[in-house]
Amino acid sequence: MTDHCENNDALRVRDKAGADSDGSPGRGTLSVWSGEMETMFEHATQTPIVQSVSYAYENMDEWAAVATGEKSGHIYGRNSNPTTRVLEEKIRVLENAEAATSFASGMAAISNTLFTLLSPGSRVVSQKETYGGTSRLFLEFLPRFGVDIELCDTTDFAHFERAVSAGCDVLYLETPTNPTLKVLDLVPLCELAHNAGAVVIVDNTFATPINQNPLALGADLVVHSATKFLGGHSDALGGLLAGRTDLVERVFAYREINGATLGPMSAFLLIRGMKTLELRIERQNQTALAVSRFLHGHPGITEVHYPGLASHPGHEIAIRQMRGFGGVLSFTLAGDPSRLSRFLESLEWVHLAAHLGGVETIAGPPRTTSHVELTTVERSALGISENLIRYSVGIENSEDLISDLSAALDATA
Ligand SMILES: Cc1ncc(COP(=O)(O)O)c(C=O)c1O
Repeated sequence: MTDHCENNDALRVRDKAGADSDGSPGRGTLSVWSGEMETMFEHATQTPIVQSVSYAYENMDEWAAVATGEKSGHIYGRNSNPTTRVLEEKIRVLENAEAATSFASGMAAISNTLFTLLSPGSRVVSQKETYGGTSRLFLEFLPRFGVDIELCDTTDFAHFERAVSAGCDVLYLETPTNPTLKVLDLVPLCELAHNAGAVVIVDNTFATPINQNPLALGADLVVHSATKFLGGHSDALGGLLAGRTDLVERVFAYREINGATLGPMSAFLLIRGMKTLELRIERQNQTALAVSRFLHGHPGITEVHYPGLASHPGHEIAIRQMRGFGGVLSFTLAGDPSRLSRFLESLEWVHLAAHLGGVETIAGPPRTTSHVELTTVERSALGISENLIRYSVGIENSEDLISDLSAALDATA
């Protein structure tokens, strides 16, 4: 686990990227340098992949000091690793958190955090629309351990007020949501939860710390699927948790035993991806907005979900709490459901895949991927039409993506 790392304490994220009056470094600089202000091995400029399970000590006193936490160091690979520690430090700095730790996947981060903080009789309040794996924890696994769950209508604040006032140990939020990009107002929701004595966890996977910092808006913990935008190259799974030291330490203590440890090779790939995080996200913000504007009002499309569009119901909140609107949008094709496959298969610059956040554009229909287990009626209640497509823009040129979409719309009109 990474607490304040000595040589990086000076790194503080400023509110906006670009020139800042207090002279603190911006997110682009921090994405590159945080965790890597000093070289680790023989002056190599890049963080090495420390592919070692164990750490040997010739001096028993030193071994004991590391084992008891009096001295920093590593004992065994399930607990910690020098390469993963660098990754943890990167997210700690970018989320401006007290502490951070890592996991084998985003779902490992989410499940380890919830299973650490909850006990039989605890109560969680969350929203109806969370990532499918998180929903399964709420609907299937946590209730088995006697945890009470109430899932609120995602954008109905009064519903959250009623649910939290009935008792709340953890308020778990995700914004923007998957796949219809609904936006939750984090400041009043965090206040509500704190008045009830609850811990607030926010899944920041879709926004990334470039676009949104939930801790600055009142959350206690932020979780990431690093597999998505943070890594950005679709070649490594990983999960990250950042926030209050007391809470991160408890989750780390559980993960050490649970064993959902991130491997050093994946950590290396995620570190390499994160160096270009700001560049990629700025490009993806611009492209997703351009694509959304092209699709909005197109006769072949019945609806476009993107918080950057002025017509989006969460646009005003998004402007307040986000610096950019993200790289994912979704839209519904006009016509009968048979058009969906023809349309997707005629796209050129896209992977048809169950994933998002990569440098290549990725598209897929929630009805056969993330929400396949729901009925048509259940999907419709969440605003997921049978012809809805989730479209995660990559870093290609936006004109090429727009021409591609335009040609596929014409070909299947
Ligand atoms: C918002 C969100 N949270 C969590 C996860 C789970 O992450 P992982 O696949 O790394 O376990 C995903 C995966 O798609 C996601 O989209």
